[in-house]
Formats: sequence, structure tokens, C-alpha cells
Amino acid sequence: IVEINKKEIDVVSVPGKGALLVHEPKHKVDLTKYLDNQVFHFDYSFDDTATNELVYKFTAKPLVQSIFEGGMATCFAYGQTGSGKTHTMGGDFTGKQQNSAKGIYALAAQDVFAYLHHRRYANLDLSAYVSFFEIYNGKVYDLLHKKAKLRVLEDERQQVQVVGLEEVYVTSAEEVIKMIQIGSSCRTSGQTSANANSSRSHAILQIVLRRNDRATTLHGKFSLVDLAGNEHGTDASSNDRSTLVETAKINRSLLALKECIRSLGKNSDHIPFRMSTLTKVLRDSFIGEKSRTCMIAMVSPGMTSCKYTMNTLRYADRACKKSFVTIERKTVSKCDLSKHFPAVFNHFSPNLTLKIMTK
Ligand SMILES: Nc1ncnc2c1ncn2[C@@H]1O[C@H](COP(=O)(O)OP(=O)(O)O)[C@@H](O)[C@H]1O
Ligand SMILES: [Mg+2]
Repeated sequence: IVEINKKEIDVVSVPGKGALLVHEPKHKVDLTKYLDNQVFHFDYSFDDTATNELVYKFTAKPLVQSIFEGGMATCFAYGQTGSGKTHTMGGDFTGKQQNSAKGIYALAAQDVFAYLHHRRYANLDLSAYVSFFEIYNGKVYDLLHKKAKLRVLEDERQQVQVVGLEEVYVTSAEEVIKMIQIGSSCRTSGQTSANANSSRSHAILQIVLRRNDRATTLHGKFSLVDLAGNEHGTDASSNDRSTLVETAKINRSLLALKECIRSLGKNSDHIPFRMSTLTKVLRDSFIGEKSRTCMIAMVSPGMTSCKYTMNTLRYADRACKKSFVTIERKTVSKCDLSKHFPAVFNHFSPNLTLKIMTK
């Protein structure tokens, strides 16, 4: 929409079947202009007409069941500021009209409660809890507790704990939506040239299943991560010191995330989760035996975003063997490993589950 208003040239096309083309404008030595067409392949690609429901159906939805089977699921929204990460994950927050019911957070919550009430899982005697926090400049802030600053500790068993993180007991999707609204209204924003209200923080909504025993033992967890914008703060308008420090932290955590997902995809024993706060707090998503991840990459289709779009697509392409794309959101989504085991998991990354199966 922003692109249409600015009369921007659309340089992205989505022919379908997971393909996505970027028509990158370039100059020859003699300064004649030409379009360099680059093709990317993902599990699915969605154009700007795709609804959040449709994107959800092919990305996060198939992961919901895994948390009932004792797994850890993670869904990342990745992309440039303004490309639609928060719109896709949280719903529409523009102006006073909020509609968090149409984001992937809420859609996942609805499915969690549907499974929770299903006969098949009733005997597990589970309860659902929600936490919502933000990582800004490497520090964790509780979005459900007036942004209280929290410490991240690692115990002797290498379990990472966010000390004091509020986990709210929830009994319906409506209650989760209320939490999303409370949390979203206190997220950190900064200034960048791309979007005055850009999010310079990672926001993580976790839906946690616990057994109703005395220890409220962890059964499964779904982490839905709205990542900070991946643009590099190198443009002239954003070179004050604090912005540069912010940007360095963001770049580092996105790099760490890519390395962790790659290690996971390669069945590597060493997952470099200590590289950033983001990967530390998501550690159990990377090491669990039943971890599954998907990445939704958003790109802005306008010509002026071309550089960022290419960065986003390359990142999604490298982070894992499979992904998805959406367009302003043109979304790309990506998961790993499933390509090698299509019969087992059609679309999504079974990660370490497969590591065990292949041994
Ligand atoms: N698929 C879409 N359909 C309609 N509006 C969208 C879509 N994706 C993004 N937008 C709008 O574009 C703007 C930027 O999106 P936002 O989600 O805030 O981006 P990000 O979180 O990646 O910075 C918002 O006003 C949002 O409502
Ligand atoms: Mg955002």
C-alpha cells in the first residue's frame, strides 16, 4: 500500500509453486539500464493478496500439533522494517483500530485451544500459558509485566532461564488476544528511514503447555517470533551512535539465528546459541528432540527496497533448506530438512526428530 502511494515500481513477482522472482535494476558499464532477474525457490510463496489466514495455514498451523506431542515449535517472521512482520504475526495495529484476532499469534492460539479440548489430548491433562517478551539491545523485557527488565541465566544443566518471566494461565484464544494487545502496546520502537515506528526489537510470544501435576512440568512450547528489521543502519539518516549500537546488536542476533538454524539443519552437534540473547532464550527450540521451525520472510516489493529484499531472500534461502515468502508482505517461508524426507513431513522441518530417525 505504501509502495502504491509512492508510485513505486514493483520489482518482485510471484509466479507460484514457491518461486519468487526479483527483477533487480542494474546499470551496464555504458550506463544502459537492464533488469537482472533472480529466481528464488521456497516451500511456498505468497503475493500481496494472500491473507494472514492463508499464510498461517501453510506455515505455523502444521506445527501446532507438534507441541501436543511434546515438541518445541518455532515460527520466525523475518524481513525489512515495514515489510509486514508485525502485521502477519500480531495482526493489524495501524491507528486505533486493532485487530489482533487476524494475526498468526491469535490463529495459533485458536488452534492450541481446539487441540486442548480434543479427545485425543484430553488425557494428557494439560494447561496453556502465555508469555510475551521483547529483546532489545540484548536485554529481555517482559511485555506482560510493564516491561520489567529480566535476567537470562543458564543453570548447571545448561538450561536457559528467563528469570521472573510472567507466564499467564489462559483458557481461551480471546484471553491470549487480550495478552497480545497488552504486550504489543508497550513494544519498543525507534526511528529509521524506512518506517518511523519501526521495531528495533525482537518480540517473542510463547504458548506453553504444562502438565497439571505439582511441578507443572513443561510439555511443549510454541515460540512465535517477530524479529527486528534486518535492514542495516548504514543510511545517512540513521547514523547516530545509539542507532548504530542497536543495529550492531540486531545484526549479530540475526546472524546467530541463521547459524543456529543452519547447524540444526546440518544435524551439527554444536549449536552456537550463546552468540546472542535471542538464540540463548530460544535454546530449547534448537536442541529439543522434537524441534520444528519455520521461517516466514517478508519482502517489500518496491524498487527502492530491492537491496533489502535480496538480503532477506538470501538469508531465508541460506538459513534453512526450505522456506516461505510473502510480499508486503510478499512472504517467503522456509523450513529445513523436510526436502530430504518428504514422505515423513510434507512441508516442515522435523529438525532433530529426523536426526534420531536417521541414526
Ligand atoms: N499483507 C498486508 N496487507 C495489508 N497491509 C499490510 C500487509 N503487510 C503489511 N501491511 C501494512 O504495512 C505496514 C507495515 O507493516 P508492519 O507489519 O508494521 O511491518 P514490520 O513489522 O515488518 O515493520 C503496516 O501499516 C501494515 O498494516
Ligand atoms: Mg514490526
